[in-house]
Parts: sequence; C-alpha cells; structure tokens
Amino acid sequence: MNAKPYYITTPIYYVNDVPHIGHAYTSIAADVLARFYRLSGRQVFFLTGTDEHGQKIERSAEKRGISPQEFVDQVAVHFRKLSTTFNLTEDHFIRTTDTSHIKAAQALWQKLAENGQIYKSNYTGWYSVRDETFYGENELIEGRAPTGAEVEWVEEPSYFFRLSEWQEPLLRFYAENPDCIGPKSRRNEVLRFVEGGLKDLSISRSTFKWGVPVPGDEDHVMYVWLDALANYLSALGYPNEGGAYQDFWPVAIHLVGKDILRHHAIYWPAFLLAAGIQPPKRVFAHGWWTKDGKKISKSEGNTVDPFALAQQYGVDQLRYFLIREVPFGQDGDFSNAAFIQRVNSDLANDFGNLVQRVLSFIQKHAQARVPQATALSADDQQFLDLVKMLPERLLELAEQQALSKMCEAIWECVSAANKYIDREQPWSLRKTNPERMNTVLYVLIEAIRHIAVVASPVLPKAGEMVLDYLAVPDDKRNFAALKGWSLIAGTALPPPEPIFPRLDKVA
Ligand code: MSP
Repeated sequence: MNAKPYYITTPIYYVNDVPHIGHAYTSIAADVLARFYRLSGRQVFFLTGTDEHGQKIERSAEKRGISPQEFVDQVAVHFRKLSTTFNLTEDHFIRTTDTSHIKAAQALWQKLAENGQIYKSNYTGWYSVRDETFYGENELIEGRAPTGAEVEWVEEPSYFFRLSEWQEPLLRFYAENPDCIGPKSRRNEVLRFVEGGLKDLSISRSTFKWGVPVPGDEDHVMYVWLDALANYLSALGYPNEGGAYQDFWPVAIHLVGKDILRHHAIYWPAFLLAAGIQPPKRVFAHGWWTKDGKKISKSEGNTVDPFALAQQYGVDQLRYFLIREVPFGQDGDFSNAAFIQRVNSDLANDFGNLVQRVLSFIQKHAQARVPQATALSADDQQFLDLVKMLPERLLELAEQQALSKMCEAIWECVSAANKYIDREQPWSLRKTNPERMNTVLYVLIEAIRHIAVVASPVLPKAGEMVLDYLAVPDDKRNFAALKGWSLIAGTALPPPEPIFPRLDKVA
C-alpha cells in the first residue's frame, strides 16, 4: 500500500494542571489515525508530549512553593499516564525541558537570525499568561482576551520575528496547498486573518527566566510558543537532518484544538518558511467539548476527568464515544447519559452481541472450530463484498480525518451482519442443512474478522480480544491480511468472553 511515511502530532500539553478530557481527546484522535495508518502498511511516527516552559508554568510552580523544574517533573507524570491508560502508541514523548529539545529550539532561532528574520526592539502591549499569547488592543473584549482570559500590560525589551514579511508567501502557500488547513471553514478563517495583514511577532521575554535562553543573549528567554512549536522538529533529531528527520519530515498532519490553530497555521509555517524548512502538509483543528452544555472550566467545577471515566466505564468505551459521538472538527457535548446510551447501543448491543452470538454458537454447535464454507450464495457474496470494501472506504475517510464517519462506516457493516444472521437463521439450519449452517457461520466470522481489524484503531483492546477468539495470528492483524488471507477451516477457537458489558443508566 501507500509507502509514504506519516508523521502525526498532538499539541504538547501545558503542565500547569492535570490532564482533562480535551487533552485525552486530541491524543486519542491522533492515536486512532496512527494505528490506522500502521495497519494500512504506512510507516508512522506519532509524537506527543508536554509544553513545560513559560510564565504560566513559572507562576504555578511559585504558587506551590517549588522550583519550576520540580513542578514540571511532577505534573508531566500525569500526562505520561494518559498514554499508558488510553493505550496510546506514540513513538516519542517529548518534554520541552529535554536538553535535546532546548538545543533544537536554539538552532531554529539561530537559523532565523542568520536569515535576517529577527530584530531587537521593545514590546509594549497586552499579554495573556493563561493563553501565553500577545493581543492587540483592537482584539480585546471588555478588557479581556477574546478567549475570556485576563490580560496584563507588558513593556519590555524583546526580539521580534518579521512576520509581516510573510503575509504574501503564506497566502501563496495556502493557495498552492488547498489541503494544508482543515476543516474548510477553519481554512477560510485563517485566510481572512492573514489577508487582514500580519504584524511582527514578539518572540522573546525578558521579565522572567523560565524558558529556553535566547542564543547570545542570556537576558532573554524564547517566547514559549516558538519554543513549543520547535518540538515537532526536535523530536526528529533536528538540527541533524539525517535519521528520523530525513525519514519523516515534513509533518503529514498536526492535530490541534481550534483555539491554537492560529499558532499552527500561521506562525509555524511562517517560521519554517523563514528558516528554509518545509512546512506541514496539513493542520487540522478539532472542536471543543462542553459538559452538559456548559464550557468546561475548573472554576465552574465541571471538569471531566478522563482517568475516572476510563476506570469506571472502560478505555475502549471512552475512546469510542469521543471519536464516534461528534464529527471531528465540530464542537461536542459530553454527558454521562449520552455516553452510556452510545456505549450500550453501539458496543454492547450491536457489536458485542454480534460477536457473542456467533462465537458462542460455534462453540456449542460447530465443534468450536472455524467452520468449512461450501458454495457461497448471492446473499453471502453481497454481504462479504460490503465488508471487503471497508478498508478502502476507511482510507478515504481517514484522509479527511472524518473519524466519526469511519465509525459509522464500520457500524454499517456491524448492522448488516446482524441483519444477515436474522435472514439466514443459522440456528434453524442446524437441523435442516448443517452444511449451509457452516457456510453462514464462516461468512459471519470472516466479516467479524474484518470488522475487528478495522475497528481496532478505535477499540484496541476489544479488537485484540475478538481476533484472539478467532485465532488470527499476530502478523495477520492488518489490512494486507484482509486482502490476501482468510480464516482456515478446522482451526480451533477458544471460548469467548463478552467484550462489552452493558452499562447501568446514571441516576
Ligand atoms: N501548550 C499549548 C500547545 C503547544 S503545541 C506546540 C497548549 N496546551 S494546552 O494544554 O492548553 O491545550 C492542549 C490542547 O487541548 C489544545 O489543542 C486545546 O484545544 C485542547 N483543549 C483544551 N480544552 C478543550 C476542550 N474542552 N475540548 C477539546 N479540546 C480542548 O495549548
């Protein structure tokens, strides 16, 4: 299949607080795509990590009365736990306090300086520590940032990046690369913003210390966003241009929340173009989750703890809900009732029951072995054709990051399988036509094998379980084996356990 390498990233998360559902969301979405492309035969590099510098972190550490380094070491652990808890398969977990990252960020700075892109002046204006973002007077709404965050007046010596010179090259870049920003509506927002004109960007701070030192000027630390964005380069060994960098650059896709699209779709390609480095192929912005219709915020006391949910209801269940419930790119609402409803209907009823019905029937009435199929009927063939089209259909959807639609396409086949059983009634065939019963069962487990392989990026644990019950060898759990390999009649099958228990309704 497609041999082009696929470098996918999540944002690196601020370690000023523990992970919440928004962090879990981007990471799970990236993991689904990473797993999916690995199954399709592509070489994947999946990167996630933590953003550990800046004034926000420095202040959080101060509040706790510990050094910033101690503080980030403590909190970064919780972000690593996201990976282990949610079965994330990142190839590298980067921390911006890693020495190799600091060197890479400085190398990028030097490159920009060499190219005449940096000059020293004074910054006078508004800054939001919560957003770690500079705001123009005209952007403020009732004295606050457009995000609602508090702003402070800042006057300090600062280095600037000549962003204003990149307006035209950026507009050309967007025009020549129509897919470089998704979804379409977000692309238009970015275009309008850049067309409105760009001001030079302050890229250093000199009134606090917690950051990457500016090369050649120890009084300044790099602006945390320049430091943070550089992580995508440093993770591949930049400034060394061989090795992983050579294999995986440029980035195939950055997944980001809509709030940080400007940084990724404007500042980042501008920095890269200015440094003579290829910009990312695509930046995709997803929407925001609310809880029971309200903005999630600590002060409201309505944060959603991904670890508690995973422990109470299951990891695959939460992964599935987040991916299936909301079209990727749109905002969504989290409620326990919607979560339980979705898990019970799609996972327990439709998929879980299908697997359980078929596999326990084989245990009882088909010698607990892969049955022998004889001639396939037109109905069998039609059903199998639908299932066999899945990988190709899913690849098309994955190219657009249509993650929820990918689940829909898989569940169309789950539902077709349930209808096929009801039509073919293997339990009645047991007495009247055992040969036909075996064929129907064979068709069903072939379909379940396909479904389990393609659903495993979203449901890694359940996918593994089902493929274990079908005795599918490890090296056959991929798209290539969906084309050229099938279950072998007579193979012994272990007794299955239910994969998705029904969840109780919340009171
Ligand atoms: N450190 C920066 C990113 C630097 S990347 C070079 C940052 N970190 S963050 O921890 O504040 O946010 C990380 C991601 O979480 C963002 O993509 C943001 O959109 C996402 N989310 C935060 N709250 C969210 C929801 N309520 N819902 C969905 N995603 C949300 O920004």
